[in-house]
Amino acid sequence: MTNEAAACRACGSPMTPFMRFGRMPVANAFVTEDQFAREYFYELAAALCAPCGMFQIVDHPDPAQMFHDSYAFFTRTSKGMVAHFRTYAEWVAERFLKKPDAFVVEVGCNDGALIENFATGGLRHLGIEPSANVAAVANRHGVRTRVAFFDPETARAVRASDGPADAIVAANVICHIPNIRGVAEGVATLLAPHGVFAFEEPYLGAMIAKASYDQIYDEHVFIFSARAVAAVFAPFGLELIDTVPQATHGGSMRYVLGRKGAHSVSPSVARTLAEEGRQGLHLAATYDEFRRRCERNRDELVGLIRDLRRQGQRVVGYAATSKSTTVLNYCGLGPHDIEFISDTTPLKQGKFTPGSHIPVRSPEAFADPYPGFAVLFGWNHETEILGKEKAFAAAGGRWIKFVPEVRLS
Ligand code: TMP
Ligand code: ZN
Repeated sequence: MTNEAAACRACGSPMTPFMRFGRMPVANAFVTEDQFAREYFYELAAALCAPCGMFQIVDHPDPAQMFHDSYAFFTRTSKGMVAHFRTYAEWVAERFLKKPDAFVVEVGCNDGALIENFATGGLRHLGIEPSANVAAVANRHGVRTRVAFFDPETARAVRASDGPADAIVAANVICHIPNIRGVAEGVATLLAPHGVFAFEEPYLGAMIAKASYDQIYDEHVFIFSARAVAAVFAPFGLELIDTVPQATHGGSMRYVLGRKGAHSVSPSVARTLAEEGRQGLHLAATYDEFRRRCERNRDELVGLIRDLRRQGQRVVGYAATSKSTTVLNYCGLGPHDIEFISDTTPLKQGKFTPGSHIPVRSPEAFADPYPGFAVLFGWNHETEILGKEKAFAAAGGRWIKFVPEVRLS
């Protein structure tokens, strides 16, 4: 496949990438040493579709390479996200699931951290999840699941077996699905006449403001804006009725859609669209400036880490996030720069980071003994992490942060 010209996945218009990150492995494909030689790589480049405003990566790996029965990402590893999902579920249930026998469907339920809140409340529910191993964890938490990708066919099957959905919810997953028009058609198929589709995802406005380029990786085929979401769902008779900014994942947006004319539209939609215009999210110049900031950020991060290493300092990484795969590979950082990355996910421990081959160790290794410096790859979980790692700072350890700019703290 080539990056030179590509068709927008949302509207079909031709688009040209404004930024290239080079060869990238699959962000969550942590490897063992014997797999180094046959790692899968693709070219990561980002583009904005001028006519519809959809921000997207140009080339992407086959989803079957990413969401399979050894998918390494479990939502429950973050206490902050578990708490956030409880609040999100309450928000949806309160507004949209009051009627008797209401039915809620989650697209991409992962280990059930969001939908279990509906399940324990006794609501009729179904979690749709393509990765069998994470779906099995959801089952153990009392969640009814169907192992499948969400597309029009799955939507028809669910509607036939369970009836129309009063709410379809999703979190950090709609942007993973390359066939976004298939999602829109599936939603239009499954939704009850007054039903809603609520989903939240990393927000383009936040990514541009913070130059947090690490949001760009294989799973994030899209980084959504309100303008692009409204445009891609409209041909399927769905209308954006609410936008609610969220602090999660370094700045997200919750979008709510319903059938056109079935709901009143919150004033927040016009406010968000106007703000996107003020921020220049539709302008090519905005993305040229974004690229320059990313390049500067990369050079400063590499410079700082290599200076510290020359001084004989130990530098480790904290949290082997999906996002860190973009940072490590774009910056060309390896095990000589970063000794290891501490991570709480047992499936990642003992393996190596994709492409950059830095060992992943348990949080116990982080303290044994503490290094001088730790790169905060899980910057979106900063409050949670700094809260529990006070002993690192007390031992004289310093955090290396790189969003929105490189600095020590
Ligand atoms: P995410 O930023 O893509 O949600 O990835 C979270 C990763 O960070 C996951 O592998 C678990 C890891 N992590 C830690 O190792 N320690 C922590 O305190 C938190 C919050 C996450
Ligand atoms: Zn487009």
